[in-house]
Amino acid sequence: MRFHLEASFRLSADAAAAQEAITQFFAEAGPILQKGAPEGHGAEISQWKLIGNRIDLTIESDRYVRAHDAVLRLRKPLAELLGKKYHIGVRGLDISKFEIEVESDRAIEHKIPYVRSINFENGLLKLDLDVGPSGTLGQSEIENRIPDRIVSLLEEKLQTYGGKGEHWELLWESAEREPKFNRDPTEEMLKSGWIKHGSSRGQWIYGPEATHIFRTFEQIVLDEIIGPLGYSEMIFPKLDTWDVWKKSGHAQGVYPEIYFVCPPKTRDPAFWEEVMDYYKVTHEVPLELVKEKIDVPIGGMCYAQCPTFWGFLQGMTLANEELPIKVFDRSGTSHRYESGGIHGIERVDEFHRIEIVWLGTNEQALAEAEKLKACYKHIFEDILELRWRMAWVTPWFMAQEGKTGLAEMSGAGTVDYEAVLPYNGNWIEFQNLSVNGEKYPKGFTVKAQSGEPLWSGCSGVGLERWTSAFLSQKGLDMDNWPNAFRRRFGEMPKGIRFL
Ligand code: SER
Ligand code: ZN
Repeated sequence: MRFHLEASFRLSADAAAAQEAITQFFAEAGPILQKGAPEGHGAEISQWKLIGNRIDLTIESDRYVRAHDAVLRLRKPLAELLGKKYHIGVRGLDISKFEIEVESDRAIEHKIPYVRSINFENGLLKLDLDVGPSGTLGQSEIENRIPDRIVSLLEEKLQTYGGKGEHWELLWESAEREPKFNRDPTEEMLKSGWIKHGSSRGQWIYGPEATHIFRTFEQIVLDEIIGPLGYSEMIFPKLDTWDVWKKSGHAQGVYPEIYFVCPPKTRDPAFWEEVMDYYKVTHEVPLELVKEKIDVPIGGMCYAQCPTFWGFLQGMTLANEELPIKVFDRSGTSHRYESGGIHGIERVDEFHRIEIVWLGTNEQALAEAEKLKACYKHIFEDILELRWRMAWVTPWFMAQEGKTGLAEMSGAGTVDYEAVLPYNGNWIEFQNLSVNGEKYPKGFTVKAQSGEPLWSGCSGVGLERWTSAFLSQKGLDMDNWPNAFRRRFGEMPKGIRFL
């Protein structure tokens, strides 16, 4: 990786009198430009020239002390030198050329902010950044580390093409269990009148029978986890703003999968009258006209469920005795614009989930994860009697940012819980459990009184997925259900029948 930067320091006055001192300064600038880099690496000034009240310089570097960092490092000592003896100030920095070369095995074409062009030559991607009087990349962009972000973005793009896939590693597997059923539970529920398609894509209307299954699962979670481990119920908002998603990381990659939320441009009925009148006359909603009258999206519908919780703690410091914090939410739906592979209630655009969230010191967060795992094991083994397994996977918070691989913080990561669907032999993820490291406390600036780093975790219990797993293995006939579940379920509610 190479950086080539041409820049000028703007001075408050002609510095001819300081010519010699400046010459000496640049001749001895080596240590400033190489500090922190491995031996033989760093930045160097390949050329410089004092022209009246301007010093033009060209800096070349590798990835260690990048040229734009080098120029910032020079500013202060240079200002001190010129200020003290010559009463000349350094007023600013103008960039006239900035090129970056990154090794690559292929050309890429992307529209990246501040990048004028990307050319591929002899195993190198050559980036020409948008600088100069008419350009957009100047001193403040350099101070804000924009060039580094461009490089990281390129590296990310080059890597994903390399095909480093989602991580998946088996952690534990239940004993084989003879399935009681081998048909598609969605089809069977439809036939039995327990569910119907909703009007929206990947949306279902759950009748009394299916709803009672959901509620029984919820009750099991309350009795076996929430109660014994002492979690408190909260209500998390279900509309996530960009501000929340910037802090949670979702703003990096979640766009193709969210339902966007747009407010009206105004709530003045007169503004909307044309739309209303059109509908009244044609019985069609004039969507193109509606499009003109709604504002840009303020965010999207709930996607991951826990991010909006963090607004409650944002910017706060927590007393030691508050920790660990343990809460859960079951106040509403989550929404994902799923791929074409929508299938029955296994993959849906609108789903129901209990989200369990905990926060404490590193030890507390890890210990809590183990307690939850023990509770889950008891539920899946002794109450639902599932054929299931656990896998160590790419953390959900990375996957939702469009990343692959594993978390860098030791101990942080996601366990997926999977169950087999006997009717097609596939395994589906029916819930997950994650230790999210410092990501959320940092993202939302939450601190501990002790000054210790805060860690958090979360676990999403998907009710559609639990239902798919359970019914596909046990069927709809209550006589085949495990006793422990049967007992908790009680009577089957009367459904709605049609003529
Ligand atoms: N927030 C986590 C997720 O979205 C757990 O539900 O996967
Ligand atoms: Zn979560």
